[in-house]
Order: sequence, then structure tokens, then C-alpha cells
Amino acid sequence: MNEKSPFINILPPQAATNSGQVDGLFWFLNFITLLFTLLVVAAIVTFAVKYRRGAHADRSNAPLENLPLEIAWTAIPLLLCFVIFGWGAVIFFRNANVPKGAMNIYVVGKQWMWKVQQPSGRWEQNEIHVPVGVPVQLTMTSEDVLHDFFIPAFRLKADVIPGRYTSYWFEATKPGKYHLYCAEYCGTFHSKMGGTVIVQEKADYERWLKSGNVQKSRAVAGEKLFRQYGCSGCHGLNSSVKAPLLEGIYGRGRALEDGSFVIGDDRYLRDSIYLPQKEVRAGFKPIMPTFKGRMSEADVLQIIDYIKSTGGAGGNSISSSDSNKGNANPYGTGAVGNDDISTRSGIAKPQGATR
Ligand code: CUA
Repeated sequence: MNEKSPFINILPPQAATNSGQVDGLFWFLNFITLLFTLLVVAAIVTFAVKYRRGAHADRSNAPLENLPLEIAWTAIPLLLCFVIFGWGAVIFFRNANVPKGAMNIYVVGKQWMWKVQQPSGRWEQNEIHVPVGVPVQLTMTSEDVLHDFFIPAFRLKADVIPGRYTSYWFEATKPGKYHLYCAEYCGTFHSKMGGTVIVQEKADYERWLKSGNVQKSRAVAGEKLFRQYGCSGCHGLNSSVKAPLLEGIYGRGRALEDGSFVIGDDRYLRDSIYLPQKEVRAGFKPIMPTFKGRMSEADVLQIIDYIKSTGGAGGNSISSSDSNKGNANPYGTGAVGNDDISTRSGIAKPQGATR
């Protein structure tokens, strides 16, 4: 809102580290399109004039083939396509690769608002406060239908999908307020679903975190929910029902009843709560009831944070594998990894056997 693009003032402000890269590709594509449009129009006009009816143009011996010309009009567009592909791929992989030690913010889309939770546990509605110059990872899901999380100034746009965690990251470069939209039609008030991203200097952000009613961290809140929902009744140490212990399982391999292995990542934990019959731990009976419809996505995320806080391998996922080692991030507590492909491969050996 407050910063202008260095090009023409038709683009949103550039307020994140990848904004310039995305804009560069955008302008390159526009330049290529314009160039070829002009070439085609010039050819049309030239030939229309030269060969108009009644013109004394030489129409004899029209060439039927021209090898150099044909090679050129094949090779040049092919080369351009490779350049566009390569350029886009570089930006795509950069966006997909969450830097180590990124702070993790939870986003839950719901008809028709965005619920956001800071690592400190503080909730926001249709607002996100972030510090400037700190990589921020978003772990996003939807409570109901498809939404799309869109911050034009950050050139960030990602589908938010029910039943799945999507992850994206950004690093804000300029303090200020920026628009947040939902960019996927999601019902009557889709157009009203949006808000503000507030980028602050680190000190201001810290002050903001401490202002208002200070809440418990997500992991502490998750522990409380773990008891409230009765999870501890079965998964606790002294429970009468024999259910797998959950302490320290995060990021570790889990042997399943069908003989396969999975990693205890976000995706696995979430599915175990909502779809408990899907992946049953080896040696246990599929007796756990589903919490679908009883536990909100936001509560599930906090319970995952709690389970993570009890230890574990830290996860094999992008964000959390090495992220917590040697990379001090003041906000990085309880970062929950996104379920990247490696955690789904199921090839890891089980370790840290629990009952
Ligand atoms: Cu949510 Cu449109």
C-alpha cells in the first residue's frame, strides 16, 4: 500500500524477498508477448500492403520451403520456452524450500475468515502480524471448503485445502500494512474474506506479542486440549486403555499394522485424529473413534504442537528437520513441518519404540 513498484505503478508494492523475482519474470513474459505480437502485426501489415489487390508485386516462383527460416522459428521459441521454464522453476523451488529456522504461523481458512495463530499462541482474525526480515513459514489448512491465501505485495498465493496442510514461506522486507485476500470462490461472502498483513520492526512485533491478553504457547494450549478432548485418557501413561504413547514420536518412524512404516509428521498426526482407521499402529486394534466434526483444525494444530514439544526426531520435513539445530530463531518454537514427499515415502526404519 505504501511502496511502489519500480516499474509501472500497476503492480502491488514489493514487500517480500521474492517480489522482485516474480515481477522480473512477469515483465519478461510481457516483453516476449509484446515483441512477438509486434512482429506478427508488422508482417500482416507489410504483406497486406505489398500484395494488396492490384499491386504490381512479383508473384512468380514463390518459395515453397526455406530451411534456415524453419529452423530459426523452431529453435528460437524452443529456447525461449526453456528460459521461461528454467526461470519459473528457480522461483518455484525457492518458494517451496523453507529456510532453516523459519518461524511457523498457522492459518486456518473458514467461511469466511482467516484464523491465524502465532507461535506464541496468540490468535488473530483476518490479520497477520509478522516481523520484518524474518523468514515466516505458513502451515495452512481449511475448516470447510477450498480457499486461497493471497498476499499480492508478497507475490504469495497458495490454495488452502480441506484435509491437507499446505505450506508456503515468505520474508517481508518493508514494514507496513498490506492486503490479504481469499483468491478462490468459496461461497456467498468470498469477496469479504480478507484482511491485513501487518509487517513490523522486530521490536514492535515483540511489543505487540506481549500486548493484549498474553496467551499460552501453542504447545501448552495443545497439552490442555490433549486432556480436554480425553486423548490423555487412552494415550496417557496410566491409562487403562492400551493406546500408543505419543511422547517423542514426532518425526520418528512408526510401524503400522499392515507392515508398512510412516513418519510421525503433521500429516500423519492429523490423519490419525480425523481418520484413525487409516494407519493403525502395529500391535494395536483400530478402536480409536474419529474426532472429525468434534475437534477443529485449529485444535488439531495445537495438539500436534504439543506432541512435537514432547520430543522426537524433530521431523523429517522441510521446516523442522535441521531447522531447530544451531539456528537460533526467537520465534521458531514449535515449528511444525510441512508434509513433504520424503516423509510420505515410508522407508524410514522405526526407532524409539514405544508401546
Ligand atoms: Cu475463502 Cu474465497
